[in-house]
Amino acid sequence: MNNMTYRGAWANRWTFILATTGSAIGLGNIWKLPYMIGVNGGSAFVLVYILSILLVGIPLLMTEVMLGRRMQKNPMDAMLSLAKESNAAPAWRYIGTMGMLTGVLILCFYSVVGGWVLSYISQAAQSNFTNITGAESSAHFDALLASPFTLLFWHTIFMVITMSIVAKGVTAGLEKANNFLIPALFAILLLLLGYSMSVGDMAASATFMFSPDFSKITPNAALNALGHAFFSLSIGMGSIMVYGSYLQRDASIARTSIYIAIADSLLGLLAGLAIYALVFANQLEPGAGPGLIFQTLPIAFGHMPWGNFFGTLFFILVAFAAATSAISLVEPTIAWVVENIKISRKPAAAGLGILIWSIGVAVLLSFNLWQDVKVVFGLGIFDTLDKLTSTIMLPLGGLLMAIFAGCVMKKQHSKQELNLKTSFYQLWQLTNTFIAPIAIVSVFIFLLFS
Ligand code: PHE
Repeated sequence: MNNMTYRGAWANRWTFILATTGSAIGLGNIWKLPYMIGVNGGSAFVLVYILSILLVGIPLLMTEVMLGRRMQKNPMDAMLSLAKESNAAPAWRYIGTMGMLTGVLILCFYSVVGGWVLSYISQAAQSNFTNITGAESSAHFDALLASPFTLLFWHTIFMVITMSIVAKGVTAGLEKANNFLIPALFAILLLLLGYSMSVGDMAASATFMFSPDFSKITPNAALNALGHAFFSLSIGMGSIMVYGSYLQRDASIARTSIYIAIADSLLGLLAGLAIYALVFANQLEPGAGPGLIFQTLPIAFGHMPWGNFFGTLFFILVAFAAATSAISLVEPTIAWVVENIKISRKPAAAGLGILIWSIGVAVLLSFNLWQDVKVVFGLGIFDTLDKLTSTIMLPLGGLLMAIFAGCVMKKQHSKQELNLKTSFYQLWQLTNTFIAPIAIVSVFIFLLFS
């Protein structure tokens, strides 16, 4: 077996785009971005988020694809080989190690939220949302969080689905799912947006999200926005590196990265617009936090014609989107295990799945029985994992990759991989050596002093 068939490779560039978009588009767009906008004061957050995508996200997405494709290995071994190739310290491989850990930690809470989505599929299918009011909908969600057994049930199902796809292998498991998923998700989101426009308060929603108010940009909101740009594009931890490692040599990294970033941001912002139009029309609280979409969307589906059908379909699509992201969260670790310990994918997936599932149980208990357990800075288990990964580990991983690609890697190698016009190459170089590091470091510094 040659190396590529052993590892699996994408059938063509299009499937790579779909798979990477599948990694990027997930709960981050539909669940997290909308509620983060509300918690962080609206338009100021959106502005920093968009700037982060443009100035840091797209260049680093390119960097990560490039690093992965050059070595065609899992992130840890890829970083080691890249460091050797550039006569740099082997310690650069710890970027890969940290990335594997980050992915595993994210999945511990991601799977719990994925479970919420699964439970909403079943609720929508049973027509539980018909004519629901805002207060009823909030009570519904609170009841879900208060029930450890229900949460455990759905978290378990989510983990089983994810790890069984992982066990089958990336190319076999993923390509088919992604081909229809993303277009379908866009379509149903447009439908939702149309509905929100007709019954919701779209003007208030647009003002809330887009009227620039620089005075509201706090260091904390900026860090959250930057961190969310990483989370949403799946960068900074090696998911994209490992997907890039399955990409053929002739594909254009820049164009692909731009497509993915546009699709990802557009989907999240559209979801936000649709949701806030409903929030303002139903006197709900924009800063409601992680429950926001679960409190607002049932109101929309509960009142629109064919709402049970569309609601069920919507939550099914979100669950799929979550699963394709979840898979990419563990793929770096699975690739590392398979390529180094030489055990096959199935036992590797089972072992890792059990580990993540167990930590996930602690996460779901933090919404009820362990509500008062605080880990650091007064944060509960769920918040600790979320903040640690999104605002520290992902930006730090991205920072190190940018420095490596911009300053350590030989220019002739990055030029060869990226294959850009000179001016674009210089722009990429500038973002990796200056703009991204300065943005990330200054946000970290702000945080330290705030
Ligand atoms: N980008 C995914 C989402 O938005 C989450 C993710 C983060 C996936 C990091 C892989 C790596 O839901």
